[in-house]
Amino acid sequence: MSRLKENLNPVTAEEMKALDAWAIDVLGLPSIVLMENAGLRAAEVVVSLAEEEGYKKIVTVCGKGNNAGDGFVCARHLFNRGFDVEVILVEEESRLKGDAKTNYDILKKMKVATSCLDQAKSLVLFKEKLNKADLLIDAIFGIGFNSFLAEPYRSIINLMNGSNKSIISLDIPSGVNADTGLVSSTAVKALKTVTFGRIKTGLTLNQGLNLSGEVVIADISIPDKKTETCLLKEPVETEDRRIENKLGNCQKCELYKTRTNIVAGEGNLNASILFIGEAPGANEDKTGHPFCGAAGKVLDELLNSAGISRNEVYIANILKCRPPQNRNPRTSEIQQCSVYLDYQIEIIKPKVICCLGNFSTAYILEKFGLKDKIEGISKIHGKIFVPDPKISDIKIVPLYHPAVVTYNVNMKGVLKADFKILAKI
Ligand code: URA
Repeated sequence: MSRLKENLNPVTAEEMKALDAWAIDVLGLPSIVLMENAGLRAAEVVVSLAEEEGYKKIVTVCGKGNNAGDGFVCARHLFNRGFDVEVILVEEESRLKGDAKTNYDILKKMKVATSCLDQAKSLVLFKEKLNKADLLIDAIFGIGFNSFLAEPYRSIINLMNGSNKSIISLDIPSGVNADTGLVSSTAVKALKTVTFGRIKTGLTLNQGLNLSGEVVIADISIPDKKTETCLLKEPVETEDRRIENKLGNCQKCELYKTRTNIVAGEGNLNASILFIGEAPGANEDKTGHPFCGAAGKVLDELLNSAGISRNEVYIANILKCRPPQNRNPRTSEIQQCSVYLDYQIEIIKPKVICCLGNFSTAYILEKFGLKDKIEGISKIHGKIFVPDPKISDIKIVPLYHPAVVTYNVNMKGVLKADFKILAKI
């Protein structure tokens, strides 16, 4: 295992996913073998630190994806080595699937201590568990994480950092963007990061450089550079990348002259719910992420109140570039920019589109043949519109724009009531 961060030809999340896919699909290495290798290598690093420091009690904090699966395998090997191991899921058990679920089921059969934050019902209990541990393993988010970190993950990560225990992160500290090393709200501060297969660019840049601590690159059986070069000639184009490629360095309207970043949109491309805002504001323009400023905080709170996690939805805007001084979008700008939104709708295939504010409501109602239903948002918020089934089976829900709460806090109640409807749908 190598322990240097520089001169290692870091890869992006996309390139790593392509390498994984190649090892699985072309070489025929079963994905569960790669997961086993990752968890075993991580366990070796943990054992060596634990033996040096005399650590006995190890708590592994897991999400629901493959990163959690690596955490389960690691926990199993630590348990077999005689450590006092507890696995805490920060997601409901029912959300585990594939290799991660297989490995979780094995842990349960082996009677390794497992609990769900949900079961524990409180972050207070979580904090107590962290306090009793000698060492924490962070297996919440892997390299797929690229959105804004919402609650309860923010509190979970803050409690882990605040516990002052040594933390070993698997693949990347949770909350760090694997490509840019940027952190949207908070991220795990690791003593060491065991990264799998190749070092990721995000571990060498920005906050990711410091948050990852010592980086150990673990060989999980993905072959070396020579073979890899053949693969990278034909990069796998993911849908996220397809949206970015389509946007390119768009200069369809004047807004390109004043923008800092294009804000394409982000979230789960398999989402059932697509939120469409108006246009990026100052924070969004600066970071390239949608709804990461004051209105984003309100949106997070509303999603939380409806029991919806930001990771489950996709968030886009009608305009992808910030209008100067946050002025209203112009009709010509909406016309030119909407090709990108149309493309996102085509890729995501949402079941429900939530239009935040008047501009997206008018655009979407017209797009789905409901022009005659367009009225001011104060009249139609919280209603469900159903297009002619010959056009689409998407349900359309106009909502007030969350920014309204930043001007009038009393509107939060109205928005919360409307968001409850979403939970029901
Ligand atoms: N308001 C919006 O409409 N979109 C954003 O991304 C942020 C604020």
